[in-house]
Amino acid sequence: MTVVLKLGGSVVTDKETPETVDEETLAAVASTIAEADTTRLALVHGGGSFGHPQAERHGVSVADGSRDAAGVWAIHDAMRRLNDAVIQQLHDAGVPAQPVHPFSVGARDADAALAFPLDSTAAMLAEGFVPVLHGDVITHAGAGATIISGDELVTRLAGGLDADSVGLCSTVPGVYDDDGRVIPEITDLADVDAALGGSEATDVTGGMAAKVRALLDLGAPAHVFGPDALEAFLAGENAGTVISGGN
Ligand code: IPE
Repeated sequence: MTVVLKLGGSVVTDKETPETVDEETLAAVASTIAEADTTRLALVHGGGSFGHPQAERHGVSVADGSRDAAGVWAIHDAMRRLNDAVIQQLHDAGVPAQPVHPFSVGARDADAALAFPLDSTAAMLAEGFVPVLHGDVITHAGAGATIISGDELVTRLAGGLDADSVGLCSTVPGVYDDDGRVIPEITDLADVDAALGGSEATDVTGGMAAKVRALLDLGAPAHVFGPDALEAFLAGENAGTVISGGN
């Protein structure tokens, strides 16, 4: 059983306060992961109050690149420091986490197609480690470096590792409809497009609509849920909104 789980930036950080780890939520999430009976788990985390502000300051997004070495490094450095904090908390809880920094692994070609070898991630899984990837900068042919979101990494891992289960853990309990109720299942983005709002804080990779779109294209059912449902998700139960593109 291979599980790919993204911890949203809003879960692992205080999204409104620059470069602030949400230590309490992160500790709770780490102990839930430690107690779960998951054999092969690959983690991805977002940026929250790390990475996004630096990306905006230096004009770097998924679409817009930069060749300013100090600026590109500042974005990567923020994400790497957050990754250090996530891994430390996972270790404190007893999870055998190890870092995989996407900037050093993958690249985009001139058509923005992603090349992202999974050798190191798959080898870690085979050795019983829990690889922890993160949204990052990525070298982009003809553009310097652009952003790779955690969601794009989830898509790559889900397909490349033949995942059985995919989870997106954010601070909301699922995808809301117009009346503020959690939608149990989404099979077509058009059905719920109007109900999907953007994120209030700076988010250079596109908010909830982009997350749902990425998950619809996975070819495997995925769950969007809040930290309270993480235990249920890891136990293989239905959690939050189940998103399935009908594959
Ligand atoms: C952040 O990754 C990447 C940056 C370097 C800006 P995500 O876009 O996946 O992060 P969250 O979960 O939405 O904060």
